[in-house]
Amino acid sequence: MSRRLIIAIDGPSGAGKGTIAKAVAAELGYRHVDSGALYRAVGWKAVRDAVPLTDEAAIHDLAERSRIAVEGSTVRIDDVDVSRAIRTPEIDRAATAIARLPRVREVLVARLRSLAFDGGVVMEGRDIGTVVFPHADVKVYLDADEDERARRRAHDPAHSGSATLAEVTSALSERDRSDRTRQASPLYAAPDALVIDTTGLPIADVVRDVLERIQARVATA
Ligand code: C5P
Repeated sequence: MSRRLIIAIDGPSGAGKGTIAKAVAAELGYRHVDSGALYRAVGWKAVRDAVPLTDEAAIHDLAERSRIAVEGSTVRIDDVDVSRAIRTPEIDRAATAIARLPRVREVLVARLRSLAFDGGVVMEGRDIGTVVFPHADVKVYLDADEDERARRRAHDPAHSGSATLAEVTSALSERDRSDRTRQASPLYAAPDALVIDTTGLPIADVVRDVLERIQARVATA
């Protein structure tokens, strides 16, 4: 494979984006970028600095002034390692709140685009195939039943908290509602995305389907 492609993987929380994006990136020798980590880092800093999560101008300035680095599973904002601190129920809510603000998204979308200037990237998020890279070489949209997504999230060791499954389900459903119904870059499947319902599917099968789509794209390029 000569040209280094841009692969966009979107979908709601717990659909399997992280696991699949990581595996596909490893297979291709590409960089994996978890775009949600940027939204979480900005949400974390806003909470730390007690900036109201609906103050668009203040959060825009905060995002613009912040240095955010995402390398593998390590996330730093202004050189503070927030890799674990951003995976809490409080920061779930904060990230989803600041993600509703169009001017904040503009800052983060520009950063995400700059990470893929020469391709060779598998980027996961909510608007990667629709807004960040509308011309991505391959677009995938992963989904799964809400109950299964909540179960996966409740068992994900990266996410801390002692919430019950019912609490996780209700928080996840609230975040999804916000992501799907917001004015700015709502979550939906791009018309040209390969849509996969991962409910009950082994990870290896999903990875294989995505890699097949990538090979098919390369063959017709
Ligand atoms: O993917 P993750 O759950 O870490 O993302 C946290 C939140 O960041 C999402 O609920 C969503 O509101 C926001 N987000 C977004 N666009 C992206 C990635 C994440 O709006 N591309």
